[in-house]
Amino acid sequence: MAETHDARSKEVGTSLIISSSSDITARLHVSAAMQQGLYPGAKARDATGGLHPLPKAQASDLCLTIPTQEELEAVHKLSFAQWGDSLTLPQYLEESVHLTGVPLAKDDGMVSWILTDRNQLPDQRPILGSCETFRKRAFVINEQGQMSENIIYGIASVFVNPSHRSQGYGSRLMHELARVIPEWHVGSLRSIGSILYSDIGKNYYEKHGWRTFPVNNHIEFDPMHGPIPLHARQIQAEDLPQLCQDDEAMARKMMASSPPGKSRIMIVPDVDHMLWHTSKEEFACQKIFGRVPQAKGAIAGDKGCRIWAIWVHRYYRHPESSSVDNTLYILRFVIENQTPTPEQLQSQIQYAKAILQAAQAEAVDWQLQCIKLWHPTSLVQRVVERSGLDYRRVEREEDSIASLRWFGEGGAEKEDLEWVACEKYAWV
Ligand SMILES: CC(C)(COP(=O)(O)OP(=O)(O)OC[C@H]1O[C@@H](n2cnc3c(N)ncnc32)[C@H](O)[C@@H]1OP(=O)(O)O)[C@@H](O)C(=O)NCCC(=O)NCCS
Repeated sequence: MAETHDARSKEVGTSLIISSSSDITARLHVSAAMQQGLYPGAKARDATGGLHPLPKAQASDLCLTIPTQEELEAVHKLSFAQWGDSLTLPQYLEESVHLTGVPLAKDDGMVSWILTDRNQLPDQRPILGSCETFRKRAFVINEQGQMSENIIYGIASVFVNPSHRSQGYGSRLMHELARVIPEWHVGSLRSIGSILYSDIGKNYYEKHGWRTFPVNNHIEFDPMHGPIPLHARQIQAEDLPQLCQDDEAMARKMMASSPPGKSRIMIVPDVDHMLWHTSKEEFACQKIFGRVPQAKGAIAGDKGCRIWAIWVHRYYRHPESSSVDNTLYILRFVIENQTPTPEQLQSQIQYAKAILQAAQAEAVDWQLQCIKLWHPTSLVQRVVERSGLDYRRVEREEDSIASLRWFGEGGAEKEDLEWVACEKYAWV
């Protein structure tokens, strides 16, 4: 991705100039900065364990840059307590490498960043904050009904070393992201926004310009043993590319024909997104159970009238622990026929019921405590309500709060943007 490379060479380039002079230059810089009162006296560790004066979060020398392997490992060691889930530390480090090879991450699709002092040497500079960005394709339709395909960046794993928190580094990291992301275009595709899912409520990212999406809801089902649902067939890994291609074609058509007067965005529910989730799932399941789930979802009905769900198994804790939140997430729920006749609606209800029962049985088989389906459309809600299955409706207030920073048409102040299909697949 050309612009990410630009961003890399820009910041890494600066560091290279410094490293080609000498350590002394960097040390002189630090001591000059200390004289100007930029460093309050606390210390930050670099990737090799060396201690550095902690720069102020407002210091003009702070920048986002690409970490070295050693720095990245230092970041992961720190964030393990937060995001290690059911894995051990060595497994978590292995997973972080594994996930760089999946399609969504390859070819600079995913980039890791650290906030550091641009004048310090790689591996010898303080790591003040870190995050990842993911390049995503997005359909956008404007108020006049003109449709375009663009790029939206997902921001993930925003992290500050626990001992450096509440000193503004997280805020500075967000400020730097807000500054650089609008410049990352890919060929003819423009970068028109960035999204993130806040697990720390609505205020923090709002404060930094990421507008909270007003609807953050899902429906939940309990795992349940039951007869094998007649209508539902298992979705296997090899079915995913074609199903996602069909879904993308439908999504494009649906967006293009949505009523004018409102701007809408949709992250393309492509197979790369699904594979990122299933790769993470398979990595964890292999470690925990020594095998991987074969069912990637369930499907019912004939072409043109199909309904399907693609799902993923997520283990926040080892299943042998007293975990209560290991979850079967429905990444994407697709109803092909969006304008059913009353008779077709009856079939859709039966199909949806069969698929959700298959999900409930899968959750039992894989020791998961809950099934979650994010942002159900009104048609999905209708078929679920009429299916007779027990479910709960949940409004999320603190975690997985979808947030968007928009710099496309209409600019940052644009308020009436609708996020279509804010489902779990886009959470990466
Ligand atoms: C969230 C995080 C990146 C903030 O970094 P930071 O450098 O401490 O942030 P800043 O100094 O810019 O801002 C601090 C303010 O952020 C807010 N904040 C920080 N953590 C918060 C949390 N878990 N919930 C709600 N608000 C939070 C508070 O308002 C805090 O102010 P306070 O110190 O007066 O209480 C850091 O706390 C972190 O790494 N947390 C663990 C990982 C995480 O949850 N990341 C976010 C995933 S969406």
